[in-house]
Amino acid sequence: MGRKPYYQEDGIVIYHGDCREVMLELEPVDAIITDPVWPNATPELAGSENPELLFSQAVSHFPRLARRVVVQLGCDSDPRFLRTMPEELPFFRVCWLEYVRPNYKGRLLYTGDVAYVFGSPPPSRDGTHVLPGRCLQNDSARNKDIHPCARQLQHVQWLVKWFANGPVLDPFMGSGTTLVAAKRLGLPAIGIEIEQKYVETAVARLAAVQPTLELEGPAVQRPLRVASSPKGSSRASE
Ligand SMILES: C[S@@+](CC[C@H](N)C(=O)[O-])C[C@H]1O[C@@H](n2cnc3c(N)ncnc32)[C@H](O)[C@@H]1O
Repeated sequence: MGRKPYYQEDGIVIYHGDCREVMLELEPVDAIITDPVWPNATPELAGSENPELLFSQAVSHFPRLARRVVVQLGCDSDPRFLRTMPEELPFFRVCWLEYVRPNYKGRLLYTGDVAYVFGSPPPSRDGTHVLPGRCLQNDSARNKDIHPCARQLQHVQWLVKWFANGPVLDPFMGSGTTLVAAKRLGLPAIGIEIEQKYVETAVARLAAVQPTLELEGPAVQRPLRVASSPKGSSRASE
């Protein structure tokens, strides 16, 4: 691939750019786990002027890149947005990503997010034959100060743990929650983000992460090396 990563460390790679261009140059991964720009996303987000078009163009790359795609959305986001998901990635299931302490959005009691899983399920391994569909977020961590729609790490780590069995790609990386989750689980990951300020946020978050296997769920396979640097981390911009 000719494009230079913005940042890379052992198994973790970040590209700063438009995912519709960057994905053209990527090798296949195991799973795409992402939270795209939704029709009801905050207008300050890049792509919020036409999220449907952005998503439809991005998903056209997915069948070549991954056998499994997990798309996270809020419980108040219209799932009809997902109808452009390519037929090669059949619908598999919905997962409920609940908050132990809901909040209000007008009349709506915001009880959590949901995630739609498409494609083939991960292979059955000891203790993982039955794939669960509910994660209760019970820590008090809030990350709204780092990105306007940062997802809960506990939810995303649960998704990565159950639905990734190798390298993970998040083409709408934002503040890097998916990459942080993958790193904590010892999985390689690639993130793409169009806004440099969020790329910088993700880099800072990743620097603070130590791998850990703290949630219940399947044991992840040993990391595959997506990229490595003998001196540890490096940044293209440096
Ligand atoms: C809903 S947010 C993702 C938030 C992320 N899950 C987190 O926890 O921080 C979607 C992200 O996609 C980015 N984005 C919008 N258009 C993009 C594009 N064409 N290529 C790559 N990233 C894009 C936005 O800047 C935004 O940060």
